[in-house]
Amino acid sequence: MQKNPYLALLILWPLALMSLSSSNPCDPSNQRDPRSLRSDQITVLINGYSESRIPLLRSLASTYTSAPQVSSVLVLWGNPSTPAQTLARLAHNLSLSSFGPAPISLVRQRSNSLNDRFLPRFSIGTRAVLICDDDVEVDAKSFEFAFKGAKQWIYTVHGDKYSIVLTKFMVLKSEYLWKYSCGGGAQMSEVRRTVDRMMNCEDILMNFVVADEVKAGPILVGAERVRDWGDARNDGDGGMGLKDEEGSRVREVGLSSRRTEHRKRRGDCIREFHKVLGRMPLRYNYGKVVNSVGEQGLCLKGGRLVFCDQYQ
Ligand SMILES: *[C@@H]1O[C@H](CO)[C@@H](O)[C@H](O)[C@H]1NC(C)=O
Repeated sequence: MQKNPYLALLILWPLALMSLSSSNPCDPSNQRDPRSLRSDQITVLINGYSESRIPLLRSLASTYTSAPQVSSVLVLWGNPSTPAQTLARLAHNLSLSSFGPAPISLVRQRSNSLNDRFLPRFSIGTRAVLICDDDVEVDAKSFEFAFKGAKQWIYTVHGDKYSIVLTKFMVLKSEYLWKYSCGGGAQMSEVRRTVDRMMNCEDILMNFVVADEVKAGPILVGAERVRDWGDARNDGDGGMGLKDEEGSRVREVGLSSRRTEHRKRRGDCIREFHKVLGRMPLRYNYGKVVNSVGEQGLCLKGGRLVFCDQYQ
């Protein structure tokens, strides 16, 4: 006997809504009050993608977790084709490598979109986040430098020099994750789709977001001694799990055409973002910062963007 089907609906409906809203990263309940965030520590987000780099990822994660400035480490796994079993083992291994008080957790991303690396997460309880790729090993000194600098950059913002910071290693206010992912209305949705279409430029877009906020230059800064292990997505050879030297040798070969293509794409992104967002907040070159990770920046020269190696 069905007594009152509406009663059941009334009860079930809010439950269904709740589970929907909790899966929406932009649900307001996911936005933390900035006053509740710690400013004496930082959350580290490591973008993991390549299974062949898992050993390096583990050593990176355990280096970060042992630093006193780190509150927690989140490994964001962006490769949807990695078997669940591998990830379960990785999660287990990571839990074994967290010696210090900072926990390491593994999160499987909902897609391979590069935008997902900037999703706001309720578990981020610090005012600043450090975002890095699984292929960039930063020595302790640079990390210390970055963290000390972060406070300055984040709170007083030295818009001194560089306008673009690569995702490979950046420190920013955690609230910018929200602005990137949930703010900016239709125009931001459009440029986030551009990132998906180009499979590139999420770092440039984040720089637009930050530059807009601070009305000046940017944030951090790849430290001087960053070791780049190659990025499978951009380079097409990093997935081979090559070691440092070997890898860079391989990358040198035939790099020029790829590099030209990569630059062109990044130039296209900047133009597209400029057009859609109707402003151009990036002001300076990033050539110098990025040299250590083997990339070239775009510089503003006489009102036009040119490759920085043509700058002088
Ligand atoms: C987990 O650790 C074991 C033992 O060190 C290792 O053999 C295995 O490859 C690791 N697997 C992953 C996915 O990290």
